[in-house]
Amino acid sequence: MQLYLDTANLDEIREAATWGVLSGVTTNPTLIAREKGADFKATITEIAELVDGPISAETISLDAAGMVQEGIEYAAWHPNVIIKVPSTTEGLKAVTQLARRGIRCNVTLCFNAVQALMAARAGAFIISPFVGRVDDTGVDGMQLIREISQIYRQDPEIKTKILSASIRHPRHIVESALAGADIATCPFKVLQQAMRHPLTDRGIEQFLADWRSRT
Ligand code: E4P
Repeated sequence: MQLYLDTANLDEIREAATWGVLSGVTTNPTLIAREKGADFKATITEIAELVDGPISAETISLDAAGMVQEGIEYAAWHPNVIIKVPSTTEGLKAVTQLARRGIRCNVTLCFNAVQALMAARAGAFIISPFVGRVDDTGVDGMQLIREISQIYRQDPEIKTKILSASIRHPRHIVESALAGADIATCPFKVLQQAMRHPLTDRGIEQFLADWRSRT
């Protein structure tokens, strides 16, 4: 399973890129808005220079014509830019039209397996089920990844990648991989947390103490 960073913060992306684990980056309007005053195009193109992999830029139109127009514009910014459209019927129309032009789409805000099946049929490059937001409703978000994985794997025509989104803690990353996700997109804080373990810290301290006490 690949790891993407879920942020529009360039400092976080610069730092995580040095760890050698990133295969792409996802953004959304909320994450872009969090970077006060940053220009959208400049942010996306800079991210694309920092990470060599798919960079998701989200459309804000509600109708397919608008999504297609935005998608064509964003895709021209960098070859790695992929277009995020919502899991709606207008989103499906946009995926169909953008795919015909060779532009890859990430169908976002997916909350049930039928949305995922229809996105795949329309030609989505990525489907993004939001596991954390499903968990918030009291339902097991990871079950959605399992269902989509099973549906996709039994249909050799489907090439759409499953991206586990709305990741809230390191355990979500492990469960996503076990449930069949191709990608997990993670907030920077979660990737940092994932690499911290008290036994690692204690082990380092012990090794250093033993090293100093030799002779
Ligand atoms: C995915 O592409 C989304 O940007 C993201 O994972 C949403 O997560 P949230 O539920 O924490 O906002």
